[in-house]
Amino acid sequence: MIKVYVSRFDKAIDEKPHLECYEIEKTPQMKVLDALQAINEKYDADISFRSSCRAGQCGSCGILFNGNGALACQKEIKDCARIEALKLPIIKDLVVDRSEIENKVKDLQLSLKCQHHDEINESVNKQNSENTKKVRSCIECYSCLSSCPVVNIATEEFGGPYIMRYISKFESDPREDFDRLKESLNEGLYNCTSCGKCMAVCPKNINTFGDAIERMRAIACNRKLGPLAQHVEFNENIKNTGRSVSCEGESFISQIDNYKDSKIALFTGCMLDHKMQHIGHTLINVLKANGIEIDVPEGQVCCGSPLLRTGQTELVQELVDKNKEIFKDYDIILTLCSGCGATLKNNHPEYGSKLNVMDISEFLVDKLDTDKMKEVDMTVTWHDPCHLGRGQGIKDQPREIIEQIKGVEFKEMEYPCQCCGAGGGIKSGKPEIAMELSKAKAEMIKKTKADAVITICPFCQKNLTDGLNASGASDIKVMHILELLQKAYE
Ligand code: FES
Repeated sequence: MIKVYVSRFDKAIDEKPHLECYEIEKTPQMKVLDALQAINEKYDADISFRSSCRAGQCGSCGILFNGNGALACQKEIKDCARIEALKLPIIKDLVVDRSEIENKVKDLQLSLKCQHHDEINESVNKQNSENTKKVRSCIECYSCLSSCPVVNIATEEFGGPYIMRYISKFESDPREDFDRLKESLNEGLYNCTSCGKCMAVCPKNINTFGDAIERMRAIACNRKLGPLAQHVEFNENIKNTGRSVSCEGESFISQIDNYKDSKIALFTGCMLDHKMQHIGHTLINVLKANGIEIDVPEGQVCCGSPLLRTGQTELVQELVDKNKEIFKDYDIILTLCSGCGATLKNNHPEYGSKLNVMDISEFLVDKLDTDKMKEVDMTVTWHDPCHLGRGQGIKDQPREIIEQIKGVEFKEMEYPCQCCGAGGGIKSGKPEIAMELSKAKAEMIKKTKADAVITICPFCQKNLTDGLNASGASDIKVMHILELLQKAYE
């Protein structure tokens, strides 16, 4: 038997939705849709829900499964699962009113406007069809829209992943006469944090940020309609120094002794080299305590993430080539910044560079000498950086490291992988959105009563600190995992 919690709402009698618990027999691979039917049969519960094809094709059965968008006909039911309606106006139980979003699509006139069919030849059509195949595979289940943190927490001035994907489909169609790029700007093209949640919940695995938003940002930059004024500084800094941010004090690379014979190299990233040099020193100390030597090669430059995320792509190839040359003889390249790690792993191969990159948690998880650790009397929680959890698929290793530290009590927060708002050029370009998301995260952190929130991303660290300060919780520390480890080896 399993327990299933289903959100019930009948506007004739309820002010707001509430969860009801049902117990059913779980059959192998039982889907949410099967479970809802079993509940209705067993309890005569009359739960209202939509479905049609039962094959993941029509999108009508979209629901929230433990807070994330999913298709009821595809998602396997689990014990204690929470099934709720999508974040749209509820008609009854799990049935939502889609007219708001459908009317928006209608108002935006999202249908092809083409007066020049004759000029479009077969090969152009075929090419376009190939290029947009993925974004066209949307089945309109609205899982992405209901899971987007910007839409649901931060601002109404963002059309969200569904609308952005829709616009991009027409923007890249050579038959389209209408200026879709301006539409995308009006709908908040620069309001997306690149958290990747929309792709994680999409039943068709559509990468809305990369294939729609990031691509349209690059077109906006080419047409001088982007980026935001605050983003131009990254480009200028990189042109002048190879780094996206200015240097406070002496750069980390110039402060340390290198081990030129080591086949393990550190990719510092801009924040660590120019602003958070102390984290680099914690790495050296933790590695020394575990008998590991690394090289930190000079001449390395920005990974290009701030440029790729904001659409300023003209310098990226140069950056990739420089780093490829610097790191070509090393066996392992370590990263301490999730954004750098995700960019090196996911974007650089498209530019011709494939290095063996490891996040520091991947590298250290099976190498720590726990006998040498002393007790650290702290309660901590963990924030999954989007570019680590979803961007690199790394969720277990940091938690396993924290659990190895004696004395540390670990408390999971409610949604550890919810975006804090630091990425996608939002922190600099749309600080009010970054702050709203960070404050939502701060509330979750406060509930754990932890002394510190641990993470592996300098951008998340900065934004979480701002959110905690603004939420009256400046006593909760924000620490890189290496800072916590250093305490154990002090
Ligand atoms: S019923 Fe059609 S996608 Fe689930």
